[in-house]
Amino acid sequence: IHPTAARRPYPIVVQSENTSYTSEHIISKFTNRGTDVIVADGQYKVVPTAKEYEFQTAVKVPKTGLMMVGWGGNNGTTLSATILANKHNIVWHTKSGIQQPNYIGSLIRASTVRLGADPKTGKDIHVPISDLLPMVHPNDLVLGGWDISGAPLDEAMKRAEVLDWDLQRQVAPHMAALGAPLPSIYYPDFIAANQEARADNVIPGKDKHAHLEQLRADIRAFKEKHALERTIVFWTANTERYADIIPGVNDTADNLLAAIRASHEEVSPSTLFAVAAILEGEPFVNGAPQNTFVPGVIELAERHKSFIGGDDLKSGQTKLKSVFAEFLVNAGIKPLSIASYNHLGNNDGHNLSAERQFKSKEISKSSVVDDMVSANALLFRPPQEGAVKGSKEAKGEHPDHIVVIKYVPAVGDSKRAIDEYYSEIFCGGRSTINIFNECEDSLLATPLILDLTILAELLSRVKYRNVSDGQTEFAPLYSVLSLLSYMLKAPLVKPGTDVVNSLNRQRNALETFLKACIGIEGSSDLLLETRIW
Ligand code: NAI
Repeated sequence: IHPTAARRPYPIVVQSENTSYTSEHIISKFTNRGTDVIVADGQYKVVPTAKEYEFQTAVKVPKTGLMMVGWGGNNGTTLSATILANKHNIVWHTKSGIQQPNYIGSLIRASTVRLGADPKTGKDIHVPISDLLPMVHPNDLVLGGWDISGAPLDEAMKRAEVLDWDLQRQVAPHMAALGAPLPSIYYPDFIAANQEARADNVIPGKDKHAHLEQLRADIRAFKEKHALERTIVFWTANTERYADIIPGVNDTADNLLAAIRASHEEVSPSTLFAVAAILEGEPFVNGAPQNTFVPGVIELAERHKSFIGGDDLKSGQTKLKSVFAEFLVNAGIKPLSIASYNHLGNNDGHNLSAERQFKSKEISKSSVVDDMVSANALLFRPPQEGAVKGSKEAKGEHPDHIVVIKYVPAVGDSKRAIDEYYSEIFCGGRSTINIFNECEDSLLATPLILDLTILAELLSRVKYRNVSDGQTEFAPLYSVLSLLSYMLKAPLVKPGTDVVNSLNRQRNALETFLKACIGIEGSSDLLLETRIW
């Protein structure tokens, strides 16, 4: 068994007054240190702050289901087949030899964090992230979901043309045993017209409230059939067009519920799935770029203390951009333009070849450098107060940024991405860096779906109390799970708070949080003992 797929009992014991264990929980004390900064007359008045918190994590990993919307697509079938290959330890022949199944590409299963150092040797000890807290093993996920295409899972896998034939051949009987996706809701206006031929498995009628009730009943039936304690609902269906935000329709929770009852045309399928999951108390994650989370959905999730996360899997080009643009700006180099071009030939590419669906992707790919740019006022002139609304001065300085996506059927799932970073360097010089990236799109995206599922389940088991404010009861985390940002192109965050796009900062936040839940401090890069006598 590949080390990323190996199953281990929970291995960590923290010996400290900050951490205690009961048969049901890990309870930790955590001091959240920050700094308040008041800027006045060119001076920064800085006040360090410290707030005491406690975290309580339920140690029992629940029996967990994953219901994918778009189960019969490239991501849905690739995820199902690779989990089955891992579960049944299926090895397969490729032209270069025998291949073992694994979970490479999963942050949770295949990356490590520094836990600390051996006191005798001073050498670092690293552990897989999956060892930090009890987490669901991907092989244990019960798989299900919906698709507007009724092809059974084995046929759908074949149609996707992602996996090696020898793997497909062996995993096909297991895929066939999963059956076919449940019928789904299809509102043709939201996805590209070129998808119509696939839509042979749809819930009949035009009554959106009846559709919502059907989805809720599907979730309940799935949970009951498999005796599940937790089910993650995951949108990995086609990218939809943006829904218009209309006052009175989708701007508040009550308006949205009324709009669903009235079958309003601007309620998208993905929004209906999100509402169904929220009302069933199950986490919902949006792996595509459209604005599923209209304000009414966020308010509804808050009201029901349900969990939501999104948007759009951050797999290749954008992941690199959230590292590379930050590297340039943090090195004191000024990117003047970032030009990104892609072509791909899978069904996602086909759907994105339509203008309105491309627009959703363009928006989600475009905001990724914003926070890095606005953090450096030495290189980029900040927005000017009092400037004419909409003017260049009011928006502040920003690198030119363009994103192009083209559909080229011949290359199938093997996406090609070219990025040019054109930057200003010392005393008027210029630097041009080009990056060419080629790989199977679905094999990058699939481990992210796993990570998001595993984390969403875990975060639904963590509670906190703010000791400094005298909070006595443990409460669930806030509904929008922004700790999922590492895997997402356009992270959804608590309304009114800043989006962090930097991949490093996103990973640090997650690492610090998971360590806080077991009562240890996150950042260890100071390595003070190596810097002093
Ligand atoms: P795909 O086109 O192969 O699969 C999508 C599936 O969704 C299809 O089987 C389709 O029949 C189904 N579908 C469409 N509307 C539906 C509805 N209302 N209800 C249920 N099923 C519906 O696409 P793929 O490659 O699996 O990607 C899925 C999504 O993930 C896309 O939105 C894509 O933009 C997004 N994504 C994919 C990434 C990747 O690298 N593969 C990266 C980032 C995002």
